[in-house]
Amino acid sequence: MNIRNDIKYVGVYDERIDLFEGQYNVPDGITYNSYVILDEKIAVMDTVDAAYTEEWLENVSAALCGRSPDYLIVQHMEPDHSAGIARFKEQYPDATVVASAKAFAMMKGFFGKDFEDTRLVVSDGATLPLGQHELTFITAPMVHWPEVIVTYDSTEKILFSADGFGRFGRADEKEPWADESRRYYIGIVGKYGAQVQALLKKAAALDIRTICPLHGPSLTENLGYYLGLYDKWSSYTPEEEGTTIAYSSVYGNTRAAAEMIAKELVTRGERVALYDLARCDMAEAIASAFRFPRLVLASVTYNGDVFPHMSTYLHGLVERGFKNRTVAFVENGSWAPMAAKVMRTTLESGCKCISFAETTVRINGGPGGDTVQKISDLANELTKR
Ligand code: FEO
Repeated sequence: MNIRNDIKYVGVYDERIDLFEGQYNVPDGITYNSYVILDEKIAVMDTVDAAYTEEWLENVSAALCGRSPDYLIVQHMEPDHSAGIARFKEQYPDATVVASAKAFAMMKGFFGKDFEDTRLVVSDGATLPLGQHELTFITAPMVHWPEVIVTYDSTEKILFSADGFGRFGRADEKEPWADESRRYYIGIVGKYGAQVQALLKKAAALDIRTICPLHGPSLTENLGYYLGLYDKWSSYTPEEEGTTIAYSSVYGNTRAAAEMIAKELVTRGERVALYDLARCDMAEAIASAFRFPRLVLASVTYNGDVFPHMSTYLHGLVERGFKNRTVAFVENGSWAPMAAKVMRTTLESGCKCISFAETTVRINGGPGGDTVQKISDLANELTKR
C-alpha cells in the first residue's frame, strides 16, 4: 500500500458505512486515503472521517517512527477528509496546516478556529520544499468543493488528486476500475464537468507517473486509460455505444414494454442496460445514462405526473448536467397519459443538447393497439446509424 519508500499510506478502510454522503450505497465500503511524505520535513496529506480519526492517528504515528510532522496539507474540507484536523493539531500543535484561503475560512465554520498562528495559505502554483521532495499546489475549485487544491510531487511525479479519480470500494482492488469510479464520479462530481476539464488541462502540463486520490486505489499504470475516462465523463461525451432503459412501473405493464424494447434493441445488436427505478441502485442508473449515448425513459402516469422514482431519476440527471444524448419516451396512462410530456418538459428545461426520438410509445394500460409496432419503430429509430 505504500506509494514509495518514503511515502507511506496511512488511510483507513470504512467497511461499516451504509450510505456514503448519506445517499450512495457502498456495498464494498470506501477508503479515506491519507499519506505521509517522509523527508527532511514531513508532510501529512489530509485527515479522514470522524469515525476513524483515532485509527488514522495511530497509522500516522506508526509511519512517523518517532518523528514529528511539520505540515498537515488539507486539500479538501468535506468532512470525510477534514474531520481529523483539530484532533491532529491537538496531538501535533507545532505542525503547520497548509491549505487554500477558502479552506481556512471553512475550518472556522467546522472547528471554530482557523489555526492562525500555525498555518500556511497557498494559492495556485505555490510550492513547498520538503527536502528531496518539492510539492506544488494546484487549485481545483469545485472538484468537488470551492476550496479544493491538488498537490503535485515533482520529485516522484505523483499527483495527489483529492476527490478526483476516487472510487468506491477498497484501496487494493484496482480492477475493474470503471464501474464504481463512474458511479462515484457522476454522482459526486458530475455537475462540475467544466471544472474537471480545467483541472485536466492543468494536469496535462505535468509529467504524472502516479495518481493518489482520496478514495480508492492509487493509480500507477496505464494512466491514459483513467485520464481518458475522466475526459469523457467531464466533457459529457458518451463512453461507449449502447442504450440505457430506465422504467417506473406499477402493475408490470410499463415494465413489460421496457423489456420488449430491450429485447428488440438487443436483437438489433445494441448493448442495453435496463433499470427498474424502484429497485435498482439509483446512482448506477444515473451513471449509466452518462455512459451511453441513448436513453429510453418509461413511466406510468401518476397524479398527472410521472411516478415518484422516475421523478427522482429525472432530477438526478438534471442536477448532474445531463446532455449530449438522445432520449426516447414510453408513457403509460389508462385515461390521461401525461408521462411523456412531463419527462420531455423536465429535460428540455433542465438539460442542454438533448435530441428526442421521433417515436414515442404510448400504452393505455396494457400493450394493446399499436404498442408492439411502436416498440419496433422505436428500436429501428434508435439503432439507425
Ligand atoms: Fe471525498 Fe468531496 O469528499
